[in-house]
Amino acid sequence: MKKIAVLVSGGGTNLQAILDAEKSGIIKSAKVVTVISDSEGAFALTRAEKAGVEAVCIPKKSADFEARLIGLLDEKNVDLIVLAGFLSILSSEFTRHFEGKIINIHPSLIPSFCGKGFYGLRVHQAALARGVKLTGATVHYVNEIPDGGRIIAQKAVEVLPGDTPEALQQRVMKEAEHVILPQAIEDICSVDAAESEGR
Ligand code: GRF
Repeated sequence: MKKIAVLVSGGGTNLQAILDAEKSGIIKSAKVVTVISDSEGAFALTRAEKAGVEAVCIPKKSADFEARLIGLLDEKNVDLIVLAGFLSILSSEFTRHFEGKIINIHPSLIPSFCGKGFYGLRVHQAALARGVKLTGATVHYVNEIPDGGRIIAQKAVEVLPGDTPEALQQRVMKEAEHVILPQAIEDICSVDAAESEGR
């Protein structure tokens, strides 16, 4: 059973999708062992507590933020780190330390509308401003380039006439993010599990 740490900053709907997927059996090769937020008030921490999962806050403003984060993740000896609505930019030292073990969910079809400054509603505002007919979500590995790591999974979502950024964000989360992130976690962890058991 692989151990997962989920890093959050906000509402935690992607975390909830992961926890629900553990319950429903979509995720059977892994378990969330800790949820870490960089923001005290993140509702994602409440979601973790309700699910009986360790919920930790390391405020992004703390001087030793990354050192504390690395220390906790090393102590837990996690197999996979999932950035789920996590807004802090991680240093190249951090991404090298956990090379190949960090994945992120981004609310667009990378390489569109990604990179520095593209997060949350801004992504959907840019998609609407450009007039794209299709957008969606991407799960990708995390390296030192913002949203630059290898793409793992994508799912397209239609942009509808009259869409506001908020409406589009909700549809992308519901129809794409909350579907491909749990599935990507299972796909990664089941392969690793098979390898470690020599299957
Ligand atoms: C979502 O738009 C997600 O794509 C992005 O952060 C936002 C909030 O996610 N990564 P969540 O509800 O906190 O999971």
